[in-house]
Amino acid sequence: MIGGDGIGPEVVAEGLRVLRAVHPKVDTTEYDLGARRWHQTGETLPDAVLEELRGHDAILLGAVGDPGVPSGVLERGLLLRLRFELDHHVNLRPVRLYPGVASPLAGDPTIDMIVVREGTEGPYAGAGGVLRRGTPHEVATEESLNTRYGVERVVRDAFRRAARRERRHLTLVHKNNVLTKAGDLWSRAVAEVAPEFPDVRVDYQHVDAASMFFVTDPGRFDVIVTDNMFGDIITDIGAAITGGIGLAASGNLDPSGAHPSMFEPVHGSAPDIAGKQLADPTATVASVAMLLDHLGHAEEAARVEAAVAASLADRVGAGAAALSTRERGEDLAARAVG
Ligand code: NAD
Ligand code: IPM
Ligand code: MN
Repeated sequence: MIGGDGIGPEVVAEGLRVLRAVHPKVDTTEYDLGARRWHQTGETLPDAVLEELRGHDAILLGAVGDPGVPSGVLERGLLLRLRFELDHHVNLRPVRLYPGVASPLAGDPTIDMIVVREGTEGPYAGAGGVLRRGTPHEVATEESLNTRYGVERVVRDAFRRAARRERRHLTLVHKNNVLTKAGDLWSRAVAEVAPEFPDVRVDYQHVDAASMFFVTDPGRFDVIVTDNMFGDIITDIGAAITGGIGLAASGNLDPSGAHPSMFEPVHGSAPDIAGKQLADPTATVASVAMLLDHLGHAEEAARVEAAVAASLADRVGAGAAALSTRERGEDLAARAVG
């Protein structure tokens, strides 16, 4: 468990409450990482902690990032370092409108997609540099790293997921009309893996148009595969159209099982509401369902998933008082035990 910053510890406490409720035998270790640790010791993710984390089956993380720490120090030094070191190349982000949840979109849209976001490369890799910093002639480059190996493995993972779904439809989202080098690599990887999955219908959409269709016609998407940065952005749009960022769950997976996978809400540390018990822990609890599923506890995962669905359905209706973070967690835990 890595609570992290801001609302992170509040929502992780509720995720743990639900996890313990359905799986009392779970053995947990809590790690104090984030802004407080950095201020005290200057450390973001000490090597020794990383080594210990490798010995766990899975990681549940709240959020990372604090207004009192220079932007990027914790995000890169802790969160991205974990994703990179533990080879979390499949960043799985379901975008699903639960029954009863109001979407800001017109009509009554059906939204049920999975975004497979590449998790270890792209502009996140950190390549680039700064020249003449602070001068009028400053130059900053931020390079996008795309390897055939890295792209092909996430493309193949997305195909496998699409092949298991009813609609069996995979959309590559990129910007190959402008990013002609990386876009070409991605497009060829998709075209070359496609024959292995003859039942999957393949599609392509530029990321700008895809962003528009998330809002005007989300039903057209089933499984999406995309690069790290595009995936970051479209999954916040995905959250917004399916009830808000407080509901969106994610898994950072190493499907090979060589490293522990990490589960976390899509949202950040929300400094504007931190420490007030105002955060919705549902995204973290839904991430716990993904964690249980990943570790092979399908029945417990289904119970947590059902608790989330039932609680969301019950929220509809006038006058339902807003619950505190803890009350929401207690409600979800009670529903999950049945
Ligand atoms: P954010 O997701 O933290 O907040 C955006 C808005 O959504 C805020 O108004 C916030 O109050 C609201 N919100 C977020 N989670 C909520 C919840 N569970 N319940 C109710 N409302 C919620 O994004 P931001 O403001 O862009 O970033 C804040 C900090 O978090 C930054 O330091 C950023 O780097 C970091 N961040 C971390 C992660 C992560 O750890 N995975 C993800 C995104 C941002
Ligand atoms: C997310 C976050 C992270 C990302 C940041 C905090 C590094 O926005 O998990 O979506 O960009 O991946
Ligand atoms: Mn994000």
